[in-house]
Amino acid sequence: MADVRVNAEAPQNPAHTETRREDYRPPDWLVPETELRFTLGIEKTRVQSKLKVERNPEGAPGAPLLLNGDDLKPVGVWIDGARSDDWSMKGSDLLIPLDGDSHEIGIETEISPAANSKLMGLYASNGMLCTQCEAQGFRRITFFPDRPDVLSKYRVRMDADKAQFPILLTNGNPVATGEGDGRHWAEWEDPFPKPSYLFALVAGDLKANRDTFTSMSGRKVDLGIWVREADLPKTAHAMASLKQAMQWDEETYGREYDLDLFNIVAVSDFNMGAMENKGLNIFNSAYILADQDTATDVDFDNIARVVAHEYFHNWSGDRVTCRDWFQLSLKEGFTVFRDQSFSADIGSPAVKRIDDVRTLRMIQFQEDSGPLAHPVRPDSYIEISNFYTATIYNKGAELIRMMKTVLGPKKFRAGTDLYFERHDGEAATCDDFVKALEDASGVDLTHLKLWYSQAGTPHVTARLEQDGGKAKLHLGQIVPPTPGQPVKKPMAIPLKTALIGKASGAEIAPERLIMLEEAEQTVEFDNVGEAALLSINRSFSAPVVMDVERGDGELEKLAASDTDPFARYEAIQELMLRWLAATANGETVDSGAVLQAVGGTLRSNQLDPAFKAEAILPPSESLIGDRMAVIDPDAIHAAREQLRSAIGKELAGELSNAQLGGGQPGEDLSKEAKGARRLRTIALNLLAAGDPDKGAQLAKAQFDSADNMTDRQGALVVLASLDAPEREQALKAFYDRYEDDPLVIDKWFAVQASAQRADTVDQVQALAEHAKFAITNPNRLRSIAAAFGMNQWAFHDASGRGYRFLADLILKADKVNPQVAARMVPPFGRWRRFEEKRAAMMRAELERMLETPGLSKDLYEQLSKSLA
Ligand code: BES
Ligand code: ZN
Repeated sequence: MADVRVNAEAPQNPAHTETRREDYRPPDWLVPETELRFTLGIEKTRVQSKLKVERNPEGAPGAPLLLNGDDLKPVGVWIDGARSDDWSMKGSDLLIPLDGDSHEIGIETEISPAANSKLMGLYASNGMLCTQCEAQGFRRITFFPDRPDVLSKYRVRMDADKAQFPILLTNGNPVATGEGDGRHWAEWEDPFPKPSYLFALVAGDLKANRDTFTSMSGRKVDLGIWVREADLPKTAHAMASLKQAMQWDEETYGREYDLDLFNIVAVSDFNMGAMENKGLNIFNSAYILADQDTATDVDFDNIARVVAHEYFHNWSGDRVTCRDWFQLSLKEGFTVFRDQSFSADIGSPAVKRIDDVRTLRMIQFQEDSGPLAHPVRPDSYIEISNFYTATIYNKGAELIRMMKTVLGPKKFRAGTDLYFERHDGEAATCDDFVKALEDASGVDLTHLKLWYSQAGTPHVTARLEQDGGKAKLHLGQIVPPTPGQPVKKPMAIPLKTALIGKASGAEIAPERLIMLEEAEQTVEFDNVGEAALLSINRSFSAPVVMDVERGDGELEKLAASDTDPFARYEAIQELMLRWLAATANGETVDSGAVLQAVGGTLRSNQLDPAFKAEAILPPSESLIGDRMAVIDPDAIHAAREQLRSAIGKELAGELSNAQLGGGQPGEDLSKEAKGARRLRTIALNLLAAGDPDKGAQLAKAQFDSADNMTDRQGALVVLASLDAPEREQALKAFYDRYEDDPLVIDKWFAVQASAQRADTVDQVQALAEHAKFAITNPNRLRSIAAAFGMNQWAFHDASGRGYRFLADLILKADKVNPQVAARMVPPFGRWRRFEEKRAAMMRAELERMLETPGLSKDLYEQLSKSLA
């Protein structure tokens, strides 16, 4: 065995090395073909690779071959068939000096899936073996140029104990199998060249829900969703969603599936939601398994969304991939936009839009206004795993949506057709994407490109000035400074705008698209027949913060009559937000207009229940915080409770009707039934705020009689925040019933960590000691950490115990799984926005964490940036 030589040039503290976009260079070596042989075992797996390497004419002349590795030791290296000692380690990478232009490199490594708690590379989960390679996990399996612009054709042989691992899967199609001596092997080939991050392998005792899909050109595709046998009955919805997604992508984007086989595997230990490996998607079981007894309507919708998202990547990600990780939004922003459109088309477009905007505001706007703000196409990173963010994903999706708004649907489709055709089989950039849209449409999109490079959420002001039949709309924009970008240019902001008659409630100036491109701009409307109300940023056409000069009376009118459902929702929410922010600031404000708008919405015969539910739900405590100069969590909580209680008391009749009338049979998954259930639980929530004793009884009755998880969990959420004997009864009944179902026990943890109670910190401390808590399982860890971090009032408990608890948990988690630990930091990032005492305590916890020896690169980056 060759000894391991450590190069003196290796960086002392890898935590500090930054990768910069401007340093991108084409690879020195290409790998047209890759052959892998796995001798699989939980404790020990042997990996033998054979790489056909060719010098890249575009690379640096004479450069050695640098193969990335992470936690790997080469057992042996072969060059053109001969064992070689002519290599060295450069940090954790393998450096092989090579003359000539073409060689065959053989490498053998040995890895331990059982010891892999980071869940990156090849790891063990529930007795099976699986992989996660995006972004840089492949280098934990074997030495390889682990960068997305090196595309290779893979041939993979898996050899394993037949009883332990009866099923062997990897990308592409099986080409040969064999067995003997209790072992078996399978060889697969993937005909499509792919980057290493799309490699996948699964071995285990799995059973498939099988189906077929016939594609538009008549190709029969075998579909398989692989799970443990006991979970098979819970795979029907995922399978139906997959077929729906395949059909939708053919109809909407003209994209057809390209292999004879499409497999999905569900695993219970997974860092993210799911992964789009070519022909073999690997999923967090939370996004596959569902039935009416264990999954909520939201779970069902999420499964459809995530299954569609990963499937859509087959074109937007796999066939056309990213040149480098700075282009991540090329595949993720676009694919999120695609999955959002899919969900809108199969459900209710207005409610879907409201939901997506809520997520954007809650997560992306927060990120964009804090220390972790970065552009959709970042300029640098320390750890790429930290950049799978709401900015890359959700703001990236908004950017694609704006391009579509500007082009219109036909030209947009022509643009995506050209993009897929032009870059098929390539690693592309965000610029390539925009260029394809421009070339196909003949429309210049330069003005929108600033959205890729400039971080921060634009703030737009609008004021309508009317003089008889003429109206002037005065617009202004400010883009706030973000880390590394103190001064901003004005952006191109597409604002869908209409005027609504104050008296008639009719659309008196039809919707038009206004492009705000200057810091200040005035737009005129002629022939305005009556006093007009401004309806702007309709359907949320641009991801900006709007500050519109409008009185409560005007908002009330828009809340009742705006012709755009999103704008109508906004008017109601804006009324509530104004009242909440003023009350939290200690002002005494009349709640008449708010109650009027909520009551009118509830009583409407035209609005559907799903819309009503979204509209009447008071904005979250964190959104209220965004409206305050200094965030005071106690004042915000008190104000929101006051509003919830007022609505619950004043509108008890309407809410009772909605709650009682909302009980739909659990097997009915139509959007009408889902909407009624959603309104039902929100009504219950508000009723309980108005009358806690009665609320506890109602909630317990809903809990006991529920025939589906939506109603049952909805009632449990209400009870969890109350002080009533029914609370403990329901929590115990829920636990006892689902003790053996990990995904439901995750809910049981999360419900308690989200509870609005003075003692939630004590509760989460106890939960972290619970026998079923496991820091090694990302879902279970998140069921406490993510839920608690988002629970503003509890996390920001004045004692500072919430901060200490989460910081301790992050430090513990970092030892096990740095990627997941680093994702728990953002709640601390907003420390500067809070009142002095809390800000000091949050900062102290950040500093304490940062000073801890042995931090991962992931956590180091998030902490140091949060303090900068
Ligand atoms: N490619 C990602 C999965 C991924 C993310 C792998 C980060 C490695 C690091 C996948 O396509 C994805 O985006 N998954 C999302 C869900 C999706 C519906 C937005 C996820 O896992 O959260
Ligand atoms: Zn994705």
